[in-house]
Amino acid sequence: MKRTLKWLGIVVGGLIALVLVLAVVLFLVGRSRLNNAPEVAAAPVTVADDAEAVENGRYFATISSCTGCHGPQLEGTVFVDEAPIGYVPAPNLTSGAGGVGSTYTDADWERAIRHGVNADGEVMVIMSANHYAAYGDEDLGDLIAYLKSAPPVDNELGERQLQFPGNIIFGVLAYDSWAVNRTDHTAVGGPAPTFGETAEYGAYLTNIASCASCHAENLAGNYGQLDSPAGPNLTTWSAEHSREEFATALQTGVLPDGRQLSLEMPWMAYAQMSDTEVGAIWAYLNTLEPLPNNSAE
Ligand code: HEC
Ligand code: HEC
Repeated sequence: MKRTLKWLGIVVGGLIALVLVLAVVLFLVGRSRLNNAPEVAAAPVTVADDAEAVENGRYFATISSCTGCHGPQLEGTVFVDEAPIGYVPAPNLTSGAGGVGSTYTDADWERAIRHGVNADGEVMVIMSANHYAAYGDEDLGDLIAYLKSAPPVDNELGERQLQFPGNIIFGVLAYDSWAVNRTDHTAVGGPAPTFGETAEYGAYLTNIASCASCHAENLAGNYGQLDSPAGPNLTTWSAEHSREEFATALQTGVLPDGRQLSLEMPWMAYAQMSDTEVGAIWAYLNTLEPLPNNSAE
């Protein structure tokens, strides 16, 4: 009896030790991966600094929700602060104290926005750079011009800190969903599609406005798959509604049944879109095959 207990103790103790070792290994793997992004082929753009470029860039920063996450003055916000997972700020993008703007080069901006790797070679885990990868060179140049023109704001948010198990969750389990791993880096860069009320331009806007980050990659709705707001199925929307109803929803946040959309849906940002742009997204949604709502898994 005593012997059996002793053996049982050894086995259980051994298992606990094994699990601990495994956890430590995964922790270290996660941390190392997060801090050492893969080399990506960056595709630098020309950045103008005239007032028109800055104004265009301000518009792009709005529809891409840069200001939604990084703050209206791009001063940075605390995006995740959840024990025990960790602390992830959406960094201060200005050139004030604690801001990356004072050190970022044009190439750094490009790598961060279209490739999902920051200037320190860290992998971004939250920002949907895989959607911004679609940005055309000229539009991205304007966006960067705007970012660089932002008045400095002092706001020291400190470094990202992912403890156990945050390092494992973000560094190991979420590996395949990292923007940097979902981007074909060789396909990044080049001109945007011609501006106009076409499905092609609509697809472009849908990408750079990152609709998929809340409505799921196939736009058939986020019903619990993503750790982001639950945007419903958009692939069936056009069959059930008119262009006008779509425009009203996107630009005033009011649905056909009169319900007001919550602010989780950034309609206030899309309210800045022109009629042509809204029409382009509408044209694009109409080309999508209607899909059943995504299931929770
Ligand atoms: C959903 C919220 C969200 C949106 C939208 C967003 N960001 Fe971010 N951004 C973050 C977070 C969080 C980080 C920290 C890195 C990460 O994702 O792990 C970050 C990191 C960055 C960095 C890297 C800073 C550094 O050196 O660490 C830059 C540059 C940046 N964002 C610019 C932008 C721009 C420009 C846009 C719009 C095109 C944008 N972001 C849209 C949340 C967001
Ligand atoms: C940050 C998350 C987020 C992004 C980005 C986003 N949406 Fe949404 N969207 C939502 C949420 C959440 C709802 C549901 C809100 C509610 O019911 O109050 C919604 C609702 C909608 C609706 C109304 C659906 C219905 O009938 O209830 C439409 C249409 C829509 N979004 C289109 C878009 C388009 C087009 C884009 C990109 C240009 C987009 N959304 C980007 C989160 C988002």
